[in-house]
Amino acid sequence: MADYQNENPLTVGLEKTLHPQPCSLVIFGGSGDLSRRKLLPALYNLAFDGLLPTGFAAIGFARSEMADHEFRAFAAEGVQKFSRRRYEATHWQDFERSLFYRTASFEDPKSYAELKAALEAIESQRATLGNRVFYLAIPPTMIGLCVKQLQAAGLIYPAKQTDRFSRIVVEKPLGRDLETARKLNDELGEVFDESQIYRIDHYLGKETVQNILVMRFGNSIFEPLWDQKNIDHVQITVAEEEGVGTRAGYYEEAGALRDIVQNHILQLVCMTAMEPPYQMNAEVIRSHKLEVLRCLRPMVDEDFQRYVVRAQYAAGYCRGVEVPGYRNEQGIRPDSTTETYIAMRVFVDNWRWAGVPFYLRTGKRMAKRATEITVQYKTVPRVLFNVDAANPLEPNALSLRIQPDEGISLRISAKLPGPKVRIYPVKMDFRYGSTFGAQASPEAYERLLLEVMAGDATLFMRRDEVEAAWQWISSIQQGWARNPAKWLPEYKAGTWGPVEADRLIESDGRQWRTL
Ligand code: NDP
Ligand code: BG6
Repeated sequence: MADYQNENPLTVGLEKTLHPQPCSLVIFGGSGDLSRRKLLPALYNLAFDGLLPTGFAAIGFARSEMADHEFRAFAAEGVQKFSRRRYEATHWQDFERSLFYRTASFEDPKSYAELKAALEAIESQRATLGNRVFYLAIPPTMIGLCVKQLQAAGLIYPAKQTDRFSRIVVEKPLGRDLETARKLNDELGEVFDESQIYRIDHYLGKETVQNILVMRFGNSIFEPLWDQKNIDHVQITVAEEEGVGTRAGYYEEAGALRDIVQNHILQLVCMTAMEPPYQMNAEVIRSHKLEVLRCLRPMVDEDFQRYVVRAQYAAGYCRGVEVPGYRNEQGIRPDSTTETYIAMRVFVDNWRWAGVPFYLRTGKRMAKRATEITVQYKTVPRVLFNVDAANPLEPNALSLRIQPDEGISLRISAKLPGPKVRIYPVKMDFRYGSTFGAQASPEAYERLLLEVMAGDATLFMRRDEVEAAWQWISSIQQGWARNPAKWLPEYKAGTWGPVEADRLIESDGRQWRTL
């Protein structure tokens, strides 16, 4: 067996090395929260690990007035607070030389002319070969405007130009329904070719999410059992301890369906359910995921009432601290009907998954932070060890822990030591932390930024994927619109959700897993 510490683990199996190309990364919204908490720390970590291309510059571009040195101080504060790698003066001094800032008003063409002049100077100073990545960490309503202005200012090279590239990265939310998503995609498509567009779903940048494919297709023991003949059901949970926090304005309009289900959860469904790709290639992987999205059974008639539960957190305790209910959070309407929790039963109507329910749930202010996919196998026949109907054997369950405590466990039945035959469910457990070290896994944004610089779109959403996801989500949105709720069921903050969600799964003779 390969020892990852003594051998280069990349020599085991497929070696996929990314080649990030020299470039300038213009962060629209460089003074904002995402930039401070995620993007700048991710860039520092890449620099720390020696992964940034040799020619590199990041240019913050936003409304606040800042000079380069002030932006560097802003970035240093973000790095000290949020970076995976520790803040070290020598690494920092090297890295901060690549940081610049230009004040902007996104509406004003002058800002783009100034950006162009600044870029030309920085490009020769930092040897970025003229390559440009525009990262839009901005309110989604401004995306259309910004791309038009970029084009008008002559800041974008056509996709067919081969000596240098322009790429654009867009953050979620990618629309709020099918129509707005199409409009957004049209606006992007008027200026950029699809091959230049990188739509972020940061879950795809998580190591454990990428490992789903390695686990499924890098082992011979799982795939033959990965179908409706062997699997009883699948559960996917994205549970958060945090409440709505400081994002009330956004969340009131989004709710759990748009915020988590449309993107992160559906992507997890795709990775779990997709057919084996024949190549690790952006178009192949994304086309296979698209097939899953297109096979999701729409919620028709009253299905959205029978198979979808939405709820809101009420006051309760999180880690022993009293926390308010959603409607009492700052910035939330006291009569809000925005869901902070959603649970649903979903089917993927294809040959492999026919009749296998996927139970999906996500919520804020739940008992703990835990994202997990569990594949529960069918029970063994009621003969031999499983004859006692009052004490049935627990079925095998394969759990992929996405976060925290990343790892994989398999529940199996084992004989308790002793003269009698007594059977007990035990777990075979692999933990990333203890095998590879706690610091080994890069943050999702590190990986995603690197992929953009390397020009690999595998971990980003293609236009048709985003729209297919919205298409399915719209069957639920339409049901809700036909029957607007005056109130939602509640669950106490710090618990596992409302009783209605328990009933949803229990009425099928199953139970939510205890995480
Ligand atoms: P912020 O409100 O913190 O930042 C918005 C940025 O846009 C600021 O830098 C602001 O500049 C700039 N800006 C807004 N309007 C203008 C304008 N007219 N001209 C120039 N600059 C302008 O938002 P976030 O960083 O939280 O979010 C950015 C995007 O990322 C959003 O689409 C969000 O949904 C998405 N996102 C955010 C996440 C997060 O954790 N924060 C997570 C996932 C997605 P200034 O502040 O200087 O005025
Ligand atoms: C974001 C959502 O996309 O994902 C947030 O907008 C949520 O509401 C976050 O908290 C969860 O991400 P993670 O990586 O902490 O699971």
